[in-house]
Amino acid sequence: MIILSIETSCDETAISIVAADGDFPHATYTVRGDALFSQVEIHREYGGVFPNVAKREHARTLIPMLEEALTEAKLGDTPHRELSSEQKDTLRTLLEREHDLAEALLKFFETHNTPAIDLIAVTSGPGLEPALWVGINFAKALSAVWDIPVVGINHMEGHIFSSVFDGHAIPEITFPALSLLISGGHTELVLMRNWGQYEVVGQTRDDAVGEAFDKVARTLALPYPGGPEISKSAETAREKGIVPAVTLPRPMLHSGDYDFSFSGLKTAVLYAVKDKEITPELTLELTLEFENAVTEVLVKKAAGAIEEYGVRTIILGGGVSANTHIRRSFEQYVKENASDVTLYLPEKKLTTDNAVMIAIAGHYHAQALKPAFREEPLVADGNRRL
Ligand code: KG4
Ligand code: ZN
Repeated sequence: MIILSIETSCDETAISIVAADGDFPHATYTVRGDALFSQVEIHREYGGVFPNVAKREHARTLIPMLEEALTEAKLGDTPHRELSSEQKDTLRTLLEREHDLAEALLKFFETHNTPAIDLIAVTSGPGLEPALWVGINFAKALSAVWDIPVVGINHMEGHIFSSVFDGHAIPEITFPALSLLISGGHTELVLMRNWGQYEVVGQTRDDAVGEAFDKVARTLALPYPGGPEISKSAETAREKGIVPAVTLPRPMLHSGDYDFSFSGLKTAVLYAVKDKEITPELTLELTLEFENAVTEVLVKKAAGAIEEYGVRTIILGGGVSANTHIRRSFEQYVKENASDVTLYLPEKKLTTDNAVMIAIAGHYHAQALKPAFREEPLVADGNRRL
């Protein structure tokens, strides 16, 4: 089965073409084409992601990404029949708010054969709704013209697949597993009894971890996105052997549940710099203490859930799982306290949003749901839950 996948939930426009050979979870996957455009440079100017700017950039970039992925994949194809006026109407209606994209897509069909694709998988949430809609309507238009089914995928489930995918297959996971999903929009501890059986046992009550990294970075006048900047600064502080003079809180460490809260930590940093000049020394100290505080909470909460639920596998995913200190701390925790637990960390390249993870999730869903997925309504859901 050849899957074309589309990811537009936040600030990455990604299209992949993945060949799946065999049945999930024993299939092997070949990434035939993978095109990704990161909008980060555009959003840096504004200091954050604005949904309508993200949407505009997705609309501008989807066709170039599609062409790039198709060229790379070198799929077989069949000559394309001219679109009927009914098909043209369908396409224009689907993309009525994206006039330029609709016209560019009509041109695309005039100049390209129909590729041998069996399924389209598209992220339908969670994420920024205007951004999600562009991807979904684009997927629907391709689906209508090529006459192939389309399945809507949960972005967070995609991150889970991203973390365990070894570039070739999904390894045999021993359940129960626990996924810690940490990104710019989410902080969730997900107990997995099997693929498709997810229970969110803990989540943030306010800011997501990545959001806290980004906001603290802004307080310290570091550029967007703040995560990598804070991480770099904290690593330098560690190398220099700096011992922070300020102690930041470890929010909800002893709350007795698996929920998180990061907005107080962000405010504590704001207080720590109040009426002070933000010197390079203060930045080193605060980034180190902030990263230590966040990591301590993440590891302790995950450790509690691992014990309570007899977890055999821990999976880290989402943009923040690129963080070196967090990765190292989880490795250390497993080595010292849970040596019978298998830890999966995503390849750094796959920590950020990508379309390969959406293709694998698409393969799983199309197979697990059989024809039923064709009947499911495909709508953007900014708050879609696992
Ligand atoms: O998963 P992702 O690419 O997009 C969302 O779905 O949100 O995550 C982006 C988030 C941003 O908040 C960014 O600052 C954070 O991940 N991030 C990091 C690191 N790299 C990216 N946070 C901490 N340390 C990093 N090295
Ligand atoms: Zn993400």
